[in-house]
Amino acid sequence: MYIMIKTWAISFAIVFFLGNATPSYAETCLSTTCHSAIGAFKNIHQPLKNGDCSFCHQQTVKEHPLKGGKSFGFIAKPAELCKKCHNSFGKKKVTHSPFKEGECVACHNAHGANGRFLLDDNEDRSGLCFGCHDSAPFNKKYIHGPVATGSCTVCHDSHQSDVKGLLKSASRELCLSCHDDFAKKMNSATIIHPPVKKEPCTSCHNPHSSSWPNLLKQGMPDLCAGCHRETVKKIKNAKVPHKPVTEGKLCSSCHSSHFSKVKGLQLFDDEKNTCLVCHSSDKLGKPPLANIKKDLEGKKYLHGPIKKGLCGGCHSSHGSDFPHILTGNYPSDFYVPFKEDSYSFCLRCHDKNMVNFAETTIYTKFRNGSRNLHYVHVNNSKGRSCRACHESHASGGPKLINAEGTKFGEWRVQSRFQITATGGSCAPGCHRRYGYDRVKPVDLTFPINK
Ligand code: HEC
Ligand code: HEC
Ligand code: HEC
Ligand code: HEC
Ligand code: HEC
Ligand code: HEC
Ligand code: HEC
Ligand code: HEC
Ligand code: HEC
Ligand code: HEC
Ligand code: HEC
Ligand code: HEC
Ligand code: HEC
Repeated sequence: MYIMIKTWAISFAIVFFLGNATPSYAETCLSTTCHSAIGAFKNIHQPLKNGDCSFCHQQTVKEHPLKGGKSFGFIAKPAELCKKCHNSFGKKKVTHSPFKEGECVACHNAHGANGRFLLDDNEDRSGLCFGCHDSAPFNKKYIHGPVATGSCTVCHDSHQSDVKGLLKSASRELCLSCHDDFAKKMNSATIIHPPVKKEPCTSCHNPHSSSWPNLLKQGMPDLCAGCHRETVKKIKNAKVPHKPVTEGKLCSSCHSSHFSKVKGLQLFDDEKNTCLVCHSSDKLGKPPLANIKKDLEGKKYLHGPIKKGLCGGCHSSHGSDFPHILTGNYPSDFYVPFKEDSYSFCLRCHDKNMVNFAETTIYTKFRNGSRNLHYVHVNNSKGRSCRACHESHASGGPKLINAEGTKFGEWRVQSRFQITATGGSCAPGCHRRYGYDRVKPVDLTFPINK
């Protein structure tokens, strides 16, 4: 660079010294074999077409060609030469350094070129840019379509711009100008993720290339953790993780990163359907988990939250400290010696008094007169779990009573439950059929094992 500037300066001094004698050289210069290459370009720079090399060059020594020396200089300093004629560029907020410095020939060929704008290639401009910019940040594993084709100048202005980063328009609008189907869908969405609405797309995406799919700036969940620190911390600390949150498509297995038709948590669909995308298979998990879609199909009685399309009140979708990613304790055994918090899961939503009092007339309908049959079955040292009688998700009969029966070793304990207006009866395989009635108590003595 230094040497170039020095040469320019010397030529300039000579021009000054010899004064302004500028005859027309065009015909002779171009027709000689020496400079015929200039005439061979597909597109010749206008002033050369007009036949006058002296628009730019000036003879500084009478002899030409000059053996071992230069007989031509320029009519102006290099930084000023092109601006002599191209002086109509207004001044914008951001100027590209080589344009500002008048290094026009770093990009343009002064005489002519095979492409337009005195450039060699009008398709792939990356070669031009990579002359000065390191190409590594543009060549990571996943490359943005227009970058891969070298179309740098669909997004950037090579000279100057009013937008930061020499962009051709404001960053978000720039992205949406090509991603117009995205813009259309976003306009008809019910909820838009705030950063997508307010921040530039580049707060999550790299416009050029990335080591992560979808041109993400970081992998998930780190990308999300920047703004959702508490949520991601909980996910990382969960004792029982939920596989899709920590593997595969991660957060975007359930959440839309951009917008959603469904109100609230930006899930792809309502909560239940979001979960059933995966939980409708007989082959999910090892050993395979129950096919929940099948479990619910055709069932007359759905557990309250499921009726409302929710799985969340019961399961922590992000992982939890309890088996089956439940939101509390729910023992998996049939017999459970009763303790205060054994059923903290069920009793988040249901009144704990249901199992706390031997006698009640209000806390449960499962009573014979005022004798609390939940207390009788559950609240003792042998204790039967709720699962002995109730289903978790849905049942064919009323009160979520487990009609097919709960597993008892290799056998199934079928309740054969029948309900009446004021009570009911069952013959579960634990004892002969007993009835209960809240209004007219049945006379019976339970053989309960304490
Ligand atoms: C619009 C200004 C302009 C005109 C008109 C022009 N030149 Fe040049 N020429 C330049 C510039 C600028 C350079 C230096 C290029 C560089 O450094 O990359 C140059 C360099 C040259 C060189 C030396 C380097 C090379 O490319 O071979 C020759 C020879 C040359 N010009 C011949 C001509 C001839 C012959 C004409 C007329 C037919 C002509 N020029 C017309 C601007 C011009
Ligand atoms: C970093 C490369 C680069 C530099 C430096 C550069 N240009 Fe350009 N120029 C381009 C590209 C690329 C185009 C084609 C237009 C486009 O794709 O945006 C262009 C287009 C042009 C055009 C035609 C279209 C228009 O905008 O009027 C002129 C004239 C021009 N440049 C002159 C200059 C002058 C004069 C300088 C120096 C002061 C200069 N350029 C510096 C890359 C450059
Ligand atoms: C003597 C005047 C003059 C000088 C000096 C001059 N140009 Fe030009 N240039 C023109 C004219 C005239 C045109 C044609 C403009 C048009 O088509 O409207 C042109 C066109 C261009 C174009 C557009 C070509 C195209 O394909 O559309 C570029 C790029 C350009 N010049 C770059 C340069 C660069 C770089 C320099 C300095 C090395 C330079 N010009 C110096 C007169 C000049
Ligand atoms: C002659 C060398 C040169 C060429 C060729 C060149 N650049 Fe640059 N570019 C620079 C320099 C120097 C800077 C300033 C770097 C800095 O500030 O760190 C720059 C900065 C930029 C910036 C950042 C501007 C800002 O204000 O944030 C963008 C964008 C850019 N160039 C795009 C391009 C594109 C696109 C091309 C190809 C069409 C290109 N450059 C070709 C030298 C060049
Ligand atoms: C899809 C549009 C798009 C394309 C294509 C594109 N860029 Fe960019 N570029 C951007 C955006 C957006 C920025 C960030 C501007 C900001 O926010 O400061 C940027 C920033 C830059 C910067 C500034 C430094 C940096 O990395 O942030 C350079 C240099 C740059 N681009 C060069 C290029 C080159 C070279 C090409 C072609 C190989 C290219 N760009 C293609 C959109 C694009
Ligand atoms: C010049 C048009 C154009 C512009 C401007 C543009 N894109 Fe793209 N983008 C594309 C094309 C083409 C694809 C490839 C589409 C495909 O593979 O189906 C793409 C793909 C993508 C992808 C998916 C990449 C993948 O790995 O699947 C993302 C993310 C993306 N663009 C984000 C952006 C962002 C952010 C911006 C603004 C900084 C932007 N785009 C601006 C044309 C553009
Ligand atoms: C909060 C971070 C975030 C922001 C902001 C963001 N995206 Fe994305 N984008 C993602 C993630 C994560 C993916 C990966 C797939 C998914 O979750 O949908 C993605 C995927 C994409 C894809 C490829 C898949 C598809 O849906 O077609 C495109 C295109 C895209 N984004 C464009 C944009 C555009 C345009 C903007 C700005 C209007 C934008 N993104 C803003 C996070 C973001
Ligand atoms: C730039 C910051 C930012 C990033 C990055 C970000 N988000 Fe958000 N997100 C927000 C803001 C702001 C809200 C609005 C609700 C709030 O304030 O918590 C939100 C809301 C949400 C909601 C709805 C929560 C609710 O209570 O309604 C979900 C789900 C969500 N983001 C998921 C993600 C995922 C997944 C990612 C990573 C792909 C991500 N976010 C990345 C800022 C961000
Ligand atoms: C299996 C589906 C699923 C996956 C995968 C998932 N989420 Fe969620 N997310 C939900 C559901 C459902 C909710 C509603 C609250 C609940 O039930 O836990 C939610 C709630 C949220 C909220 C609202 C605040 C909160 O903490 O409850 C944020 C923020 C959020 N998710 C971010 C993320 C991030 C970040 C990831 C990836 C690390 C992720 N989610 C992965 C289903 C999912
Ligand atoms: C992208 C697929 C996918 C989605 C969506 C999904 N899950 Fe899962 N789920 C799995 C996989 C895989 C497992 C783990 C199987 C294993 O551990 O072998 C699992 C396990 C479970 C378990 C059992 C944990 C255990 O240890 O018994 C529950 C409960 C569960 N998911 C509930 C949900 C809920 C609620 C939703 C919706 C918020 C949901 N899932 C959405 C794939 C998914
Ligand atoms: C009212 C609470 C509740 C709701 C709502 C609920 N579950 Fe469950 N779920 C449970 C309980 C309790 C278990 C543990 C059952 C057991 O231990 O036998 C369970 C177990 C599971 C399992 C593990 C099954 C296996 O084979 O081990 C999956 C998968 C599951 N639920 C998915 C869902 C999905 C999907 C939804 C929403 C459609 C949902 N759950 C709604 C309480 C609930
Ligand atoms: C997230 C809250 C929630 C949790 C946890 C929960 N339930 Fe429920 N449960 C409900 C709701 C809501 C209803 C519907 C109440 C209504 O319709 O009045 C319901 C209804 C029932 C019914 C049927 C009542 C009737 O009158 O038909 C039974 C039985 C039941 N739950 C048992 C359980 C058991 C056993 C557990 C623990 C394994 C449990 N529930 C955990 C919310 C919950
Ligand atoms: C021995 C079988 C059995 C066990 C064990 C059992 N239940 Fe029940 N439960 C019933 C019957 C039968 C009813 C229906 C009462 C009626 O409406 O006639 C019922 C009703 C309910 C209801 C509806 C409201 C009410 O109390 O009438 C809830 C909620 C409930 N049970 C929760 C639980 C929970 C939680 C557990 C475990 C702590 C549990 N049950 C254990 C048999 C049982």
